[in-house]
Amino acid sequence: MENKIFIFDTTLRDGEQSPGASLNIYEKLEIAHQLAKLNVDVIEAGFPISSPAQFEAVKLIASEVDKTIAALARANEKDIDSAFKALAQARSKRIHTFTSTSDFHIMGKFGHEKYGKSLAEKRETILKMAYDSVKYAKSLCEDVEFSAEDAGRTDINYLAEVIYTAIDAGANVVNIPDTTGYTLPKEFGEKIAQLRKLVKNIDKAVISVHCHNDLGLAVANSISAIENGARQIECTVNGIGERAGNASLEEIVMAIKVRNDLLKYSTNIETREIYNSSKLVSGFTGILVQRNKAIVGENAFAHESGIHQDGMLKDRNTYEIMTPELVGYPKTKIILGRHSGRHGLKVRLKELGYEITDQKLDEVYLAFTELADKKKEVFDEDLRIIMGDSISHKNEHYELNYLHVISGSGSIPTAVVRIKKDSEIKEESSTGDGPVDAVFNAIERALGIKQQIESYNVRSVTSGRQAMGEVLVRIRSSSRSFTGRGISTDIIEASAKAYLNALNKKEQHETLLKTTSEENNLITVV
Ligand code: KIV
Ligand code: ZN
Repeated sequence: MENKIFIFDTTLRDGEQSPGASLNIYEKLEIAHQLAKLNVDVIEAGFPISSPAQFEAVKLIASEVDKTIAALARANEKDIDSAFKALAQARSKRIHTFTSTSDFHIMGKFGHEKYGKSLAEKRETILKMAYDSVKYAKSLCEDVEFSAEDAGRTDINYLAEVIYTAIDAGANVVNIPDTTGYTLPKEFGEKIAQLRKLVKNIDKAVISVHCHNDLGLAVANSISAIENGARQIECTVNGIGERAGNASLEEIVMAIKVRNDLLKYSTNIETREIYNSSKLVSGFTGILVQRNKAIVGENAFAHESGIHQDGMLKDRNTYEIMTPELVGYPKTKIILGRHSGRHGLKVRLKELGYEITDQKLDEVYLAFTELADKKKEVFDEDLRIIMGDSISHKNEHYELNYLHVISGSGSIPTAVVRIKKDSEIKEESSTGDGPVDAVFNAIERALGIKQQIESYNVRSVTSGRQAMGEVLVRIRSSSRSFTGRGISTDIIEASAKAYLNALNKKEQHETLLKTTSEENNLITVV
C-alpha cells in the first residue's frame, strides 16, 4: 500500500463555517494562494450552492490557483451543477458530494415520508441518492469524492453498503467523516479496517477521513485512520471548523514528520509555510490561536523555567522535538522604523511570505510610513496587519474619511464622522453612551441605517504601549452574521473601521445575492 498521505484542506469550506468567521472573496483568494504554497494536495474552496458569495469565491479560486480545487455539493443535480459551474476554470477539479448515513441523521433530516416510511425504506432512498449523485457528478468531472455524513455513528454494515455503492457509481475518493467528533481513536481506526474488509471494491478508491474535534480527538482519530488504511486526511489550518473545529493540518503533518520512526508515511506539505499559513488564517478569520496550541501557538517553542532554559542552552534536543524553523517560525525579530526604505520593507515582506508587485509596494509603503510615524518600531505582526488590511478592505463601498471624538469624565461623548460612499461624502455627528456608541450612532446617521450589533470585541495584536488594537464587530442581517475587523493604534478609530467593514461585507453579500440570483437563478441554503 502507498505510504503517501494526501492532504485535503477544508479551511475555506468547513473552516469558514466556524461561528463568526466570515471571509470576503479576496481574503479567501489570499488564503488559497497560501495553501498552494503550503503545497496541500486539494483545496476545498467552498459550497457553491449555499450562497452567491460562496459560488463567486470558488469560481475565483478555481481560475487563479493552480491546485486541485474541490467544491462541495449535496447529493442532488442542482447542487452538483452549481459546484461544476463554479469549478469550470480550474485546471484540476473535484466534485465532493455527500449525504447523511447515520440513523440519527436519516431520521432527523430525512424524516419526511417522501424519503420512505420506515428507516429501512429511507436507507434505500439514501443508497439510491448516493449512487445517482456520484454517477451524475462523474458524468461531468473525472475526480469525484463521496462523503457519508456522520459515518462515525453509522451502522458499519449499512456504511459498507453505501461506500460500495458510491465506488460502484464511480467515486475515486470515499470519505468517512466523524461529523460529530464522537468516536475514539481505536474505535475509529477499527471502523476503517472493517470497511477495508467489507467493501469489495474498496481498492478502486482512496479512503479519506474527516474528523471533528468535539472530544479533542480529531487528530488522534485521523492518525489512527491512517494506520488502518486511510490515505487522505481532511483538515484545516489552526483546526478551525464547525463547533470545536476539524483536525488541525499542522498537528497531523508534524506528527507524521516528527514520529516518522513509527508513522512511516509522508505528505507533500512544505512545513516551513505552516506558521505563515496559521497567521494568515487567524488574521483574516479573527479566530485567535490559543497561546499553548501545538505547533503554531505563541508558546509552542517558548521555554520558561530555568531548568528548561539551561537544558536548551546545552542541547536543544533536551526539550525540543522539532525546531521552530521547521514550521517556519521566524528566526529573528526584525524591527523596521520610519527610516527603513522600500527595499528593506520588500525583503522583509518576502521573508514573511508576501510576494508583491512594485505597484502594490507603493500602497503598502505608504501605510507602513504612516504607521512608523505613529509608533516608531514596526514589527512583523504590524506588517502582517498592513498586508491583511489592504486585502480585507479591497473594493469597499464605505470608507472612513475623517473621525473626531470628544470623550472624558464629565463630558457627553460626541463623534463626528465623514464617510466616503463610492464617490459621495457623508458627514454626521452624534452623541452616545460612550465614545464607541457615539461613533456607531454617527455612522448610522450618515448612512441612514439602524443596525443591531451582535458582538463587539477589542484586543491588542502587537506588543507595547503603542500596540495596534484590533476590534471585531459582528452584525446580523436577516439570514446570517458578518464580522468586521478594524485595526489601528487608536481603538476608537479601529472600532469605526470594524463597523464599516462589517457593513461592507453585508452590503457585498446582499448585492451579490441580488445580481447572481437574478443571473444564475441560484438558491440560497442557510
Ligand atoms: O463533517 C462533515 O461530515 C462534513 C461533510 C460535508 C464532509 O463536513
Ligand atoms: Zn465537517
